[in-house]
Amino acid sequence: MLEIRQKRVLMIPAPFEGHLPSMMNLASSLSSRGFSITIVRTQFNFYDISDHFLDLRFYTIDDGLSESDMSSLGLVDFILKLNSVCEPLFKEFLTLHDDVDFIIHDEFVYFPRQVAEDLNLPKMVFSASSVATSISRCLLMENQDQWLLPPQESKLEELVPEFHPFRYKDLPVTAHGSIERLMLLYSNVSKRDTCSGIIHNSSNDLENLFTSAAEDKWGVELYLVGPLHLTDSATSCPSFFEEERKCLEWLEKQETNSVIYISIGSLAITQEEEFVELAMGLVQSNQPFLWVIRPGSITGSNSLESLPEQFRQAVTHDERGFVVNWAPQKEVLGHRAVGGFWNHCGWNSSLESISCGMPIICRPYSGDQRVNTRLMTNVWETAFEVEGELSRGIVEMAVKKLIVGEEGEDMRKRAIIMKEKLEASVRIGGSSYSALNRLVYSITRS
Ligand code: UDX
Repeated sequence: MLEIRQKRVLMIPAPFEGHLPSMMNLASSLSSRGFSITIVRTQFNFYDISDHFLDLRFYTIDDGLSESDMSSLGLVDFILKLNSVCEPLFKEFLTLHDDVDFIIHDEFVYFPRQVAEDLNLPKMVFSASSVATSISRCLLMENQDQWLLPPQESKLEELVPEFHPFRYKDLPVTAHGSIERLMLLYSNVSKRDTCSGIIHNSSNDLENLFTSAAEDKWGVELYLVGPLHLTDSATSCPSFFEEERKCLEWLEKQETNSVIYISIGSLAITQEEEFVELAMGLVQSNQPFLWVIRPGSITGSNSLESLPEQFRQAVTHDERGFVVNWAPQKEVLGHRAVGGFWNHCGWNSSLESISCGMPIICRPYSGDQRVNTRLMTNVWETAFEVEGELSRGIVEMAVKKLIVGEEGEDMRKRAIIMKEKLEASVRIGGSSYSALNRLVYSITRS
């Protein structure tokens, strides 16, 4: 009997918590549509996830880079180095594996690009961020001389021409290093002229304001297939950190919509003074709170012992607060007891909260988080931002406004409407479902 070989798609995720799970969900979707999938990961930040994806093949590139390289170089220079180290190793890998038909790589690991071009292999870029973020990086590069980056103080509140509602201060220009190096990284990340498509973990229902501008800019088709964690074939990808599931039991004891959940993702770092104000503001708000304090996420000491007695009393004695190192976030956001989210606005957290109909207090730190904040506050209108220096009084007022205030209630209603739209978008006939079908067709034809 004649056996038809399935196309083999090689997928390369970026080795960061905010990037790996969404690409793994895409891999599961493509595998369930009949493609053979190979995942190539870096040794940097490696932890074994293969048990959760038994249908996929896994390989690792031995880049020899470590956490200490990232701390000494800073994030931007580290990513540039990771790419230059991995390019020759990937070339070697491809010479040993000649059954690859198609490549999909995360935009931040662009090392496969040149190798794929040399071998005439079709490829697409995967972005774990919003379409608006991709456009904003491009605008920064195109206008870097004219805008004198970072934008001057007097310009910060002004709207960026033809990119409303974004202001100069919303652009992802906070550098973990020099502006020149950041622009170099963005030019590598944004180079899309030789790819046959761009896949975003986003949805037309969230970003239809920006999709045609993006298609015009890159001149290739855009596939908005997300939120990928909502798709039928989504598989839970284990995290680098260990989830503390006890918090779900604590949530069971709380009243509906009463809890404020606080988390700032996998990379953001809070200053110790802000940490103390946040802690005391939570106590003063009188609302129950579930707080993720990731190890290493506070400058100086992050021990609960160093916080004022009142805070420790609220957590240990009154059981009004629950603190974990890492939470099962998607389950927490979907829990009936959680009424609001204090968040840094990473793209995954933004998608997860809107998928649960959850309003947000935005406290962005860096990168695309300002762009996402503006989307939530001014396009979806499901959030508000707390800007400037944080005091316990500001935290208290913000928590009350979100959880018990009228404005918070209106945001929750809008978020629930968006949630329903997103659930529909990944079902048959929805825009993300159709985008996935178009993607499958395009890979098959390539
Ligand atoms: C990074 C960038 O900071 C972010 O802006 C970009 O869009 C993606 O890469 P990160 O900062 O970690 O990501 O934030 P985010 O995108 O929100 O991803 C964090 C992930 O960790 C989410 O999927 C969230 O569910 C998960 N998480 C976070 C947990 O599972 N438990 C926690 O306690 C905290």
